[in-house]
Order: sequence, then structure tokens, then C-alpha cells
Amino acid sequence: MPTPIDAVNSAAGWIEDGRVHGALYSDPAVFKAELERIWYGSWVYIGHTSEVPRPDDFVAKHLGLMPLLMVRTSTGAVRLLLNRCPHRGNELCVSTRGNQRTFTCPYHAWKFSNDGELLGRAFPDGYEGLDGGALGLAQVPRVGIYKGFVFACMSDDAPPLDVYLGAATAAIDQLCRNSPCGEIELTAGFLQHRTQANWKFVLENECDGYHPAFVHSSIFSVSDSGIGKLYGPHSPALSRDHGNGHTEIDLRPAFRELDRPLAWFGTDEARLPDYVSRMNQAYGVAQARDIMIDGTPHIMIFPNLFIAEIQLFVIQPVAVDVTVQQVTALQFKDAPDLNRRMLQQTVGSVGPAGLLLADDTAMYERNQRGLRASQPAYLYLKRGVHRERVAEEGGGRVGQVTDEVASRGIWRHYQALMG
Ligand code: FES
Repeated sequence: MPTPIDAVNSAAGWIEDGRVHGALYSDPAVFKAELERIWYGSWVYIGHTSEVPRPDDFVAKHLGLMPLLMVRTSTGAVRLLLNRCPHRGNELCVSTRGNQRTFTCPYHAWKFSNDGELLGRAFPDGYEGLDGGALGLAQVPRVGIYKGFVFACMSDDAPPLDVYLGAATAAIDQLCRNSPCGEIELTAGFLQHRTQANWKFVLENECDGYHPAFVHSSIFSVSDSGIGKLYGPHSPALSRDHGNGHTEIDLRPAFRELDRPLAWFGTDEARLPDYVSRMNQAYGVAQARDIMIDGTPHIMIFPNLFIAEIQLFVIQPVAVDVTVQQVTALQFKDAPDLNRRMLQQTVGSVGPAGLLLADDTAMYERNQRGLRASQPAYLYLKRGVHRERVAEEGGGRVGQVTDEVASRGIWRHYQALMG
């Protein structure tokens, strides 16, 4: 039987052929190792450039446990500054967003430009002969941007961002095509949901197509959208493992069978005439129709970016058994009537009184509590293992939507990073 220390030192033995040891979700030593090897050793999503549209805009973000400031400098560059004063470590900025050229530490009034340079120290006569040049704010060394999505990497060892994202770029492209301008905007503001559960329970749940029929039966019964049928054992929808830990519930086969534009959004063209007209103008009638049939993706980009058709979630680990999910309604540039509905549906599903995320949260927390019982030691992830196959399109592995292909893909990548 592997011990928690084995879990940190070697992946072998506790991630086995479709089963994983419960200590992976509950042992603080594992959480500490994950911070180093995953959150500070690989690419992690931080934010979107539309959150800092003007020069000197900034928003507060996190990379693992580290507080960051995502800033748009005066010259227009996007930088990720570590939110820590180089003098005595004070958290430099406690505002969640704003527009300013400089940051002044409240403790001893050192002042920094928004590209991280130390501009001045209070009572400078005490610093004669000392070099202030090296006392700027630390920055994330590798910043990569794909279609406005900003990713950070603290390690030189990780591959380039485009290699890391791999097939996930096609899903981001699919998402952006749903805007007449080909761009999304994160302008609706974020809700924060704090959960007493390990971050990987959240991660796995995002593309688990097995649970919705049970956990979300109440919202399916009142919303009358037909979405519930997509998650049954006879649905043509797919569970996908794209590699590198990126997983997807691919609902396009089901929407293509329905052949109705905007069915993915539980509506039809007559209810969004302005949006349909703008899409037809932008892409031509035939391509616009195809885009509106496929809709937006349901993809989990490892380890923390979940694009959930109409929302975007960011998973933030806080402790081995505490996770925060930040969530916002997706907004599409030049699509005002679609955006209004996106916002309404987001409030209804994941808002404070929403019907969807509360159900999921109850399950994450029950999972974590269940692990206090020590046996059986392993969690079982073998649903559909006999019918999992290599995908004909786009590579990766694929199976029926209720199969646990996605969870197995996550753990394969986790093992590669941690082992
Ligand atoms: Fe920031 Fe002293 S800790 S100026």
C-alpha cells in the first residue's frame, strides 16, 4: 500500500490503470508537491486581455497560491507582476481592479511603475550607494497569449504554450467563432464560489458526463431545454481526452443530429434575430448556420480553465481541501442580444441562488468528506475503459459521453507531471 510520501516521490502505485489513491485528494504533502510541479512548473491560465482593455488597467489574479497583478502597461503590453513588495514582502495592492500607472506600498511607501520598475523610496538619503535597479517587482518569466487568453509559466522546463495547449486551441477557436467579430470579452464581472474540497474533484467534475443525469436532474426538469438528454447512455455526445490533461465533453455530434441553430443554447434563431443577422453578415449564411449548430465548447484546459458553453470558470487552489471557483458569463464582441441571455442564464445556473453549481458543490464536498473513511483506498475510474478508442479526428482518446475517458486523461497527465 503506498504511503502519502510515496505519493509525492513516485506516481507509480497510486495511479493505476483506471484507479487513483484517495490520499491524492487529501494529503497536504501531495498538495505542496502539486504547487511546485503543476502550478509553478507548468502553464496555468491567468486571465483574458479584455479584462485590462486600456493602458494602465490592472486586475488582481492568482497563480497557485501566489497573488498576481495582471496589468496593461502604459505602452500596451500585458505583464504579470507578483503582488509582493521587494522591501519587506507586503502585499502591494489589495484592490481587485483599477487603472493606475504606479503602485505605492502602504508600509514604507516604496513606489513602482506598472511595468514593475522601482521608481522611488521614501527618505532616500538612507540608501546612498545602494543599487535600486534590482529591487523592482518580480514578474512571471513566461507569459503566453492565445486569442486573448493569458497563460503564465514559472518554469523554463515546460514546452512552449502552443505545444502545451495542443488540441485545446481548436476549442478556443470554436468558442471565438460564435462572435461575429471572432472575439470574446470578459466584462461581466466574476462570482466566487468557495468549496470545501480538493481542486482535483472540481477539475474532474467539469468534464464528467456521468453525473449530470442524477446531480442536475432538478434543473433539467424545470428548464425544459433538452440538455439533460445529452448526458444519457444512448447520447451520441463524446467524452474526450485531448492529451496534456485537457479534456472535453463534445456535444457537437448530438447538436449536428438535431440540426437546429442555437439548440446548444436552448433557444432558436427567431429569439435572437439581431445576433443571427450579424453572424450571417460576418460568416455567410451557410458557415454561420454551421457555427450556430455546433455552438460553444465544454472544455477543461488543465489545470484551471473551464469553458462551459456560456460561462468561464477559473479553478483556484487554496488548501488541500479548499478550492475557489471564479466564474463569469462569457460575452461575445458585437453580440448584445446573445450577451444579455448569457448573463441571465449564468445568474440562473451559477449565481448565488443558481440551480446548477450548488448541486455540483454538494457533490465535491461530499467526496471530500467521504475520504475521511480510509477504505476502499482507491477511487474507481474505469467506466467505458473497454470501448475507449483513439479519436478519428483531432487525435486524443474518445468514448461515450458517460464514460470516464476525461478523468483517466487528467490522471495520465498528472502522473507525467508528478512522477
Ligand atoms: Fe513595502 Fe516596506 S514593505 S515599502
